[in-house]
Amino acid sequence: MKRQKQLYEGKSKIIFNTDDPDLVIQYFKDDASAFNGVKKGTIVDKGVINNHISAVIYRFLESKGIPTHYVEHMSDREQLTKKLDIIMVEVVLRNVVAGSLAKRMGRPEGEVLKNPILEFYYKDDDLGDPMINEYHIREFGLATDDEVQQLKDFGFKINDLLVEYFKERGIRLVDYKLEFGRHQGKILLGDEISPDGCRLWDLKTDEKLDKDRFRFNLGKVEEKYQEVYNLICGDAKI
Ligand code: TMP
Repeated sequence: MKRQKQLYEGKSKIIFNTDDPDLVIQYFKDDASAFNGVKKGTIVDKGVINNHISAVIYRFLESKGIPTHYVEHMSDREQLTKKLDIIMVEVVLRNVVAGSLAKRMGRPEGEVLKNPILEFYYKDDDLGDPMINEYHIREFGLATDDEVQQLKDFGFKINDLLVEYFKERGIRLVDYKLEFGRHQGKILLGDEISPDGCRLWDLKTDEKLDKDRFRFNLGKVEEKYQEVYNLICGDAKI
């Protein structure tokens, strides 16, 4: 499968059309951004690392019955995926208090949640991805009620699977963002799952192994992305 015209360039990926109208190529860049694009930089080889990590995780999720857009790993920075009509709602899952939840609720970072929390955000950079609920989604036609139910069902099922998956590899899955899209009448998990869109802490030490190192200038950014790569991809063939 060859790259055709560029379809879209995002903050961390470029999407290319292919000869097949149902398939696109995701090209993973090293560009890093935070705080809705206010902070910009580069994380060396992040694209290679995220491409591999995401491929391994999507294959795992597929093996457990979660439908995803993933088709195949093409090269260090490219993967073939099904073309989606993206649902403009970001689904955030949380297992531990951190980030905006700590701020919004005035809770200490690191507090373990008794039950996972699922949140919706409107995918709109110009507005800074504001938090929304099911009534906003229905009113503004972002997804049907049936699709919202599927986002919740898939979100919680993915969370159960991934909490265990990361734990077995020495990582605490604190929180993360998922994106979904429509393809041939079905909802599929899209985008990527990588240290860019997840909070991942060392299970023993609680050391941060994710983009918070870049956001808050904690140093050793590349080193910690590489550590996640080793923990996730070390025993997985690509
Ligand atoms: P938050 O604490 O800033 O709301 O983010 C929760 C998690 O979701 C965190 O792991 C980062 C991820 N996230 C993104 O990657 N992109 C987004 O647009 C949002 C809203 C969250």
